[in-house]
Amino acid sequence: MTQHSIHPVHDLIGVGFGPSNLALAIALEELAQRHGKALNSLFIEKQQHYRWHGDTLASQSELQISFLKDLVSMRNPTSPYSFVNYLKQHDRLVDFINLGTFYPCRMEYNDYLRWVGEQFAEQSAFGEEILRIEPERASNGSIEQLRLVSRDAQGREHARYTRSVVVSTGGTPKVPELFKPFKDDARVFHHSRYLSGVEQLQLAQGRALRIAIIGSGQSAAEAFIDLHDSFPAVKVDMIVRGSALKPADDTPFVNEVFAPFYTDLVFSKPPQERASHIQEYHNTNYSVVDQGLIERIYAVLYRQKVARQFRHAVMCRQQVEAVTDAGEGIELSLRDLTLGTQQTRRYDAVILATGYERSSHRQLLAPLEPLLHNYEVDRDYRALAVPELKAAVFLQGFCEASHGLSDTLLSVLPVRSEEIGQALYRALGKAAPASETLRAAANA
Ligand SMILES: Cc1cc2nc3c(=O)[nH]c(=O)nc-3n(C[C@H](O)[C@H](O)[C@H](O)COP(=O)(O)OP(=O)(O)OC[C@H]3O[C@@H](n4cnc5c(N)ncnc54)[C@H](O)[C@@H]3O)c2cc1C
Ligand SMILES: NC(=O)c1ccc[n+]([C@@H]2O[C@H](COP(=O)([O-])OP(=O)(O)OC[C@H]3O[C@@H](n4cnc5c(N)ncnc54)[C@H](OP(=O)(O)O)[C@@H]3O)[C@@H](O)[C@H]2O)c1
Repeated sequence: MTQHSIHPVHDLIGVGFGPSNLALAIALEELAQRHGKALNSLFIEKQQHYRWHGDTLASQSELQISFLKDLVSMRNPTSPYSFVNYLKQHDRLVDFINLGTFYPCRMEYNDYLRWVGEQFAEQSAFGEEILRIEPERASNGSIEQLRLVSRDAQGREHARYTRSVVVSTGGTPKVPELFKPFKDDARVFHHSRYLSGVEQLQLAQGRALRIAIIGSGQSAAEAFIDLHDSFPAVKVDMIVRGSALKPADDTPFVNEVFAPFYTDLVFSKPPQERASHIQEYHNTNYSVVDQGLIERIYAVLYRQKVARQFRHAVMCRQQVEAVTDAGEGIELSLRDLTLGTQQTRRYDAVILATGYERSSHRQLLAPLEPLLHNYEVDRDYRALAVPELKAAVFLQGFCEASHGLSDTLLSVLPVRSEEIGQALYRALGKAAPASETLRAAANA
């Protein structure tokens, strides 16, 4: 039953406290100084203890973006929330410089994000999952407030009220239809549950299991190398629909599609041109692997040939056509997409490195759906809505189709969070006149 605990009406509730809303919390703190007014904001995170894609944090995994694209530096390199300041505070700045890399390991970046989050403890609630976002209709029909219903770790429901919401709930693991009947089977799991899934398989006890990895993106490649490095008895087949493992294009000219100015460029185009742009640069992010990792996988396979001991395989052009529980294992029927031939292979476990969907905002905002324009947003990420919906709804991470490929990534967080922050001040009628803002900025 929903507990109607007495809560203030917030100016803003942020749903999820991952990188997108962490960046927003920092931007709002700066804007509060500039506008001379702080928003009454709260960020709600379903994890009890924050971890950044925590169940995928294999020890070798590295950030795929320069640390200079942290939560704030591109907007304000003097911010105390920079990655460089995190290093300084943890007495590792010199050692990090000695590493000579732009790409810290993801475990360290996870720790950086947690360190930033701790500094906003008073504006955050952990261990509560938002279940739905509902309109609160006033007697004149207009909707000035939203009601957010959450569930805590004890299963109790809570209601909170807010004048605006920023939904930043990230991706949802994509499970292909054929594997859906195995959702409660510990032998089949999505890569988002990699570490706990592997632990349940008890590989550390030297079990000689055969494991299939489905997919050929960064997640699949990281799982392959981690299983190879960590569990010498395990045999892995990477099952790939495409014709080869392909490298992520991160060359400098192409990388400009992740620059802040590119958002304007994409947004200014008609929908068809936006879609073809995203398709053209798909290989910067999706179904691709960091080149160094591809080379490591190739070297592993080559050494097998030299030793004539064939432990792993990368099987390209293979379509999974059926999945059967064969008692002793999971049987995959595979069709060779070039030859048309069929084979059945039995595995002890299957890891689905099959990517992510971006749909959680639709579930949360379903009660508002009749008031929205199919979740389309304006340039400042505010959902387009009918005039009676006065409460502002913003989306982060669900706007790739209109704002470009950086939308699901870390690439433009410092700039996007400022854009949303400014739009929030305007929507809530709290923006200081331009002249005052300029004066405050000059004095800051
Ligand atoms: C394994 C992996 C590695 C990645 N590495 C990189 C990288 O190196 N560089 C890069 O640019 N991008 C990377 N990405 C892309 C990733 O989307 C971004 O890095 C980043 O996590 C996006 O931040 P976010 O806050 O929008 O979403 P998320 O990080 O997904 O955060 C969403 C948060 O919302 C919480 N949440 C979800 N639903 C609810 C709810 N109903 N109520 C309350 N809380 C909720 C979640 O627990 C989570 O903490 C990676 C993605 C994955 C899966
Ligand atoms: N170290 C890191 O920073 C790190 C680690 C992991 C992930 N990431 C990021 O996370 C994001 C997602 O990467 P990801 O590797 O998880 O996903 P992804 O790039 O979307 O790749 C998904 C893979 O699954 C395959 N696939 C999807 N549905 C399938 C089906 N029904 N049958 C067979 N194969 C199927 C796809 O094949 P097709 O190509 O044939 O469609 C593709 O190879 C990216 O931004 C990536 O950079 C980063």
